[in-house]
Amino acid sequence: MSQEILISTSELKKYFPVKTFLGGKTKYVKAVDGVTMDIRKGETFGLVGESGCGKSTLGRTMIRMYDVTDGILTYKGKDITNAKPAELKEFQNKMQIIFQDPYSALNPFWNVEEILNEPLKQIGMPEAERKDRMEYLLNKVGMKSDDLIKFPYEFSGGQRQRIGIARALSVNPEFIMCDEPIAALDVSIQAQVVNMLEDLQNEFGLTYLFAAHDLSMVRYISTRIGVMYLGNLVEITESNELYDNPLHPYTQALLSAIPIADPKRARARERIKLTGELPSPMNVPEGCHFAPRCPYATEQCRADGPKLREIGRSHFVACHHVEEIN
Ligand SMILES: Nc1ncnc2c1ncn2[C@@H]1O[C@H](COP(=O)(O)OP(=O)(O)OP(=O)(O)O)[C@@H](O)[C@H]1O
Ligand code: SF4
Ligand SMILES: [Mg+2]
Repeated sequence: MSQEILISTSELKKYFPVKTFLGGKTKYVKAVDGVTMDIRKGETFGLVGESGCGKSTLGRTMIRMYDVTDGILTYKGKDITNAKPAELKEFQNKMQIIFQDPYSALNPFWNVEEILNEPLKQIGMPEAERKDRMEYLLNKVGMKSDDLIKFPYEFSGGQRQRIGIARALSVNPEFIMCDEPIAALDVSIQAQVVNMLEDLQNEFGLTYLFAAHDLSMVRYISTRIGVMYLGNLVEITESNELYDNPLHPYTQALLSAIPIADPKRARARERIKLTGELPSPMNVPEGCHFAPRCPYATEQCRADGPKLREIGRSHFVACHHVEEIN
């Protein structure tokens, strides 16, 4: 994998305004609250964390589906933080998304030909060339030309996801935000779709941001992994390093919940229970956002939010007391 950086964020924020009654002050959901990270060309960057921590919002902001509230976003070194729609057009084809629920992501009134025709028309492909391209794309995702005349309801969940992937591929992207692309699929076909995504990555030199709940699958597919908590990344490192040597108390708690097949290793690993609920992103705690649930929290933690620091080689952790804890 190259070290070339494809996407870079610095203190990236995405807040959603929430209307309050009786003309009160507007409140904000701080879905992404100061994320600094890079995604390298050709890698799969896994993104894990509890539901509502901001994984989808981070990915969607990166591909500029959402406007940026604050911070800096660059694509191949070009600042696209506030790029206007006309300027963004060139980048948006390069950055695509695959959604968790393929059914709601596909227009139910269009057949596959219409679904694939739309983006090809948008990139200005001559009509005479489109049919060949559609057949090529379907073949790449393991489907047949005969499927072009069918509608989304005529397929299984896995096949619908394949159509969503073909649509994303149609515009020759470089980067794909895979937003829990297998979570809604039957366990028996999850591995097929993951393997297909890997094959496509190798063939087309794609870069992925892969958001997921299933921690064992993320390890398998990712080059590096970022652990997200309440709008921030608390730990970033290489995939195997994260599982073998988790350093942030939140990562340790998340990983301790995964069953281990080897009984000796399972006994050796302490099960760390997360206490309390994930606080609302409308009322994020002062200082370290994890402090209300962290067994090691001190006054310093409650006053001052820790930034990511490089603790080992390419192992970044946002915690004031990481050296004492580990
Ligand atoms: N369009 C929106 N308007 C207002 N709030 C939003 C919007 N999208 C997301 N949020 C809020 O932002 C926070 C982060 O949501 P997000 O969907 O990014 O989390 P997630 O980590 O992807 O969760 P999940 O694992 O359930 O998919 C949540 O509190 C969510 O309710
Ligand atoms: S900074 Fe403090 S509260 Fe936050 S994770 Fe580290 S020890 Fe826990
Ligand atoms: Mg999500």
